Amino acid sequence: MSRRVGAAEIAARKGASFPMVTAYDAPFAQFAEHAGIDVILVGDSVGNNVLGYDETTPVTIEDMIHHAQAVTRATARAHVMVDMPFGSYQISDEDAVRNAIRLVKEGGACSVKMEGGTLVSQRIRAIYGAGIPVVGHIGVMPQTASLGPGYKVRTNRARLLDDARAVEEAGAYAVVLEVIDPDVAREITQVLSIPTIGIGAGPHCDAQVLVLHDVLGLHATAPSFAKQYANMGSAATEALHAFAEDVRSRKFPPRSS
Ligand code: KIV
Repeated sequence: MSRRVGAAEIAARKGASFPMVTAYDAPFAQFAEHAGIDVILVGDSVGNNVLGYDETTPVTIEDMIHHAQAVTRATARAHVMVDMPFGSYQISDEDAVRNAIRLVKEGGACSVKMEGGTLVSQRIRAIYGAGIPVVGHIGVMPQTASLGPGYKVRTNRARLLDDARAVEEAGAYAVVLEVIDPDVAREITQVLSIPTIGIGAGPHCDAQVLVLHDVLGLHATAPSFAKQYANMGSAATEALHAFAEDVRSRKFPPRSS
């Protein structure tokens, strides 16, 4: 029996407002767990936040396994949800199930998440059918943002409702709503029996997820919907600047007299 928060426990949080954050490595996963956040997403946003890519599409299944391992090693109780990266579920049900199994067996994932609504419902069904808890992700979908209106707020009520229902019917235990009009997000939250996890989708979702680097101010820029709770980027630059100055001025290491 796993000591971690399970998918069923998260599904039962419908109506509760619970926090969730991304993490990609051991120290920050531990900070999140120590802060009482018990649902951690190893997002494919590791691509732009950690690996130096401009987007998430280059991220591989090996990258996700590598980062998931770091997060699971460093945490004890948190539910570790892991993104299926672009290319790991598009080809066939069989390939998607194989990759989801790798995330669980090699990465230690408690559940997997994939982008797409009606278009990926068959994949969700296949992975759920293999016994792996799955989370859907609709609205803005960074892996395929170039196909549509990019990162603009999604307002197409009928389509978003169809996508949300398809994801739930296929067996997902929760769904991420990314950058969706808050009124539509509220309606989806009311209509579905699984929790909605909002990011830039207003206050009515059952959970709120933010990217760790946006919360901690590790980036020069962050999306307008994100709230920055610290400025760790500046603190790190200042600390490193002080260290460099101390070395140049021979203040560090101290000389013995
Ligand atoms: O990869 C990620 O960080 C995500 C969040 C935006 C939900 O999918």
